[in-house]
Amino acid sequence: MSKKVFVTREIPERGLLLLREHFTVKVWPEELPPPRDVLLREAGDADGLVTLLTDRVDAELLDHAPRLRIVSNYAVGYDNFDLRAATARDVMMTNTPGVLTETTADLAFALLMAVARRIVESVDFVKRGQWKTWGPQLLLGQDIHGATLGLVGLGRIGLSMARRAKGFDMQVLYSDVARNEAAERELGLTFVDLETLLRQSDFVSLHVPLTPATRHMLNRESLKLMKPTAVLINTARGAVVDEEALYHALKSHHLAGAGLDVTDPEPMELSNKLLSLENVVVVPHIASASVKTRTRMAVMAAENMVAGLSGRRPPNILNPKAIPFP
Ligand code: DGY
Repeated sequence: MSKKVFVTREIPERGLLLLREHFTVKVWPEELPPPRDVLLREAGDADGLVTLLTDRVDAELLDHAPRLRIVSNYAVGYDNFDLRAATARDVMMTNTPGVLTETTADLAFALLMAVARRIVESVDFVKRGQWKTWGPQLLLGQDIHGATLGLVGLGRIGLSMARRAKGFDMQVLYSDVARNEAAERELGLTFVDLETLLRQSDFVSLHVPLTPATRHMLNRESLKLMKPTAVLINTARGAVVDEEALYHALKSHHLAGAGLDVTDPEPMELSNKLLSLENVVVVPHIASASVKTRTRMAVMAAENMVAGLSGRRPPNILNPKAIPFP
């Protein structure tokens, strides 16, 4: 009998086709994530789950899922997974690293440029009919070329940001748990501690996973270290930033602007005070949202599933100890 896979949303067709070649596939057809009771019920009958970052996979779910062998996240981030609980139950967990790196860095850089050059404000200005003439002081922004970019986290996406920044003649600082001397040599990056990075950067871009150590890494104290002319970009996870503290820093002009692809919670509520500020650009977690990249992610998520349920090591296994075969 063919194995059963539940997919928690309509992912791009190529991924679904690949899954359907091998398994009996059920796809949750709604725009919103399956409610928790539905997810638990479906997990209870599945050999594999393809999940999104909006689906929590924890001990409770795993205990509802006696046949479950693999959960394949359609995302590189996996803070929705309890890896330890999965490993303890021999459930393999996978993600989609690499394929979304450049697309995510594109969006991070686009946000940086949008905030620095007040693009969204300018578009609104034109649409509201306020453009009367060329103005010597109209919508003045900040230069990107020649400025200092601070990368918090120099993983794949941070490194791709550094490459873009070099094209703009930016000086690039980075902080991370470990140095990357090869990247320093190749791109002329400077390794500094987080405090120095926050004090010296004109733009700070976050590229760390959400973990207990990075939750609210940008908080009241750390935001205070930033220059009043600085801009914060977050394409990592919303909870890396304390949004209440960010609002106060922006409102009191201790910080010049912010570009957010991710918020905490998601979606950001319309009543969120950050949306009342002109110097904040918020987009709905679309950093990896290009046609090509989302297709690649779908295929990769499917390939992980096919391997795991066919007795092969999934290429992007997060918890190798849970692999039941040699
Ligand atoms: C991820 O993959 O973790 C992004 O946040 C969405 O693509």
